[in-house]
Amino acid sequence: MDVATSVLPTAAPSSSRNSGTMDALVIQGGRPLSGRVAISGAKNAALPVMAATLLAPGVHRLRNCPQLVDTRTFGKVLEKLGAKVTFQKNECVIDTTGVNSVEAPYELVKTMRASIYVLGPLLARFGAARVSLPGGCAWGPRPVNLHLTGLQAMGAQLDIDHGYITGKDVKLHGAHFNFDVVSVGATAQLLMAATLADGVTVLENVAIEPDITVLGEVLAQCGAKIEGLGTRRVTVTGVKELRPIDTAIIADRIEAGTFAAAAAMTGGTITLEQVIPDHFEASLRKLEESGCTVVREVDEVTITGPSRPRAVDVTTMVFPGFPTDMQAQMMAVASIANGTSVITDTIYLDRFTHVPELARMGANIELKGNVAVVKGVERLSGAPVMATDLRASAALALAALVAEGETKVSRIYHLDRGYENFDQKLRDLGARVERIRE
Ligand code: EPZ
Repeated sequence: MDVATSVLPTAAPSSSRNSGTMDALVIQGGRPLSGRVAISGAKNAALPVMAATLLAPGVHRLRNCPQLVDTRTFGKVLEKLGAKVTFQKNECVIDTTGVNSVEAPYELVKTMRASIYVLGPLLARFGAARVSLPGGCAWGPRPVNLHLTGLQAMGAQLDIDHGYITGKDVKLHGAHFNFDVVSVGATAQLLMAATLADGVTVLENVAIEPDITVLGEVLAQCGAKIEGLGTRRVTVTGVKELRPIDTAIIADRIEAGTFAAAAAMTGGTITLEQVIPDHFEASLRKLEESGCTVVREVDEVTITGPSRPRAVDVTTMVFPGFPTDMQAQMMAVASIANGTSVITDTIYLDRFTHVPELARMGANIELKGNVAVVKGVERLSGAPVMATDLRASAALALAALVAEGETKVSRIYHLDRGYENFDQKLRDLGARVERIRE
């Protein structure tokens, strides 16, 4: 097997399941991780901002944009619509002057659900859109009903047939819309659409994840009229046009939490650089509860792990609660903790595909519906395991760092979707990690 260089991997083609051209991480466990790691820009903050470039013709500049499979895929979706997209290291320049299509095809949307973010901006700017419905994902159905009913409330007649959402001759107008469920994506969708709609839109029960609040701030910098950002009620007064975006993507609070969990598990000391501590306070508090020492600075956080984490209970909630995107990583911490932890996901009731894989490494986890009871064990043992989705892959890599012997995590194209240079960052912290091509 040859050691693949750490160039940015491309998205695994859907046929890769049988072609075997997939990368894997081979990890030797047992070493504490210590040192400094620069946290990249947030995937979940970059994707909606990339979609928002459709709202204004011109050259948009996204600094600190992470080079990931998902941001590249989103670039491809925008190119399909006629935009010009270039990545120079961590700067993404998007010229939407030449957008001449409103169709986001299934081939691209099926590889990344967030492609649906183009729907609202296309309707708002061009009055038309033909966007493939996103499929499910590793852990089950992820409905988009709120995206659709919200846009319909704003006057969009949407037909859904042959797997596509189609809107024609749409003139969006202001509406008063209440989200039955707090939804990150649907909030982003309607926030973007409302900036160019005719009149005032009031959105109630919105998501206030940093990714979304910052999206609103970026739109306001471009001339959008938005009040109430950071609260559950946002009011948008439509304007005629917006100026192009020029912004720096905020640090990834989930990547930061993931490396903090690595310190918690390996008993090392890791300093996270270029972070916003407030954005992952729930994760930091939970790790302190498990015995970590946490020092918060303005844009750095240093975490020192205990000799063995204490068991803690975790229940995922919308921001500012404990994020579902850190649930799998916290389960890895719990799997070696001293005691029994109860982990409940209230956002995604079936986001537990990492459980059987962790069990292969010796974790003792009993899953009842959306509640996992994790009895910590002294040592995990290295084993071949398979990544199933983005955060599950991260959890398996964390477990491998402390497991006895060698672990091979296969199908890590999932990891490459949302973590920039993950294996290189782990090596720089002292981990024995090798990326191989299977
Ligand atoms: C975003 O997904 C994130 N993705 C997810 O991160 C994250 O897990 C999720 O928010 C929750 O924080 C991006 O930002 C690209 P939601 P999204 O709409 O917007 C229900 C990762 O690991 N719902 O907030 O799809 C839904 O079923 C990814 O980076 C509806 O019922 O999540 C869920 O129970 C995975 N109808 C709840 O809302 C809708 O129309 C929260 O989902 C939309 C959502």
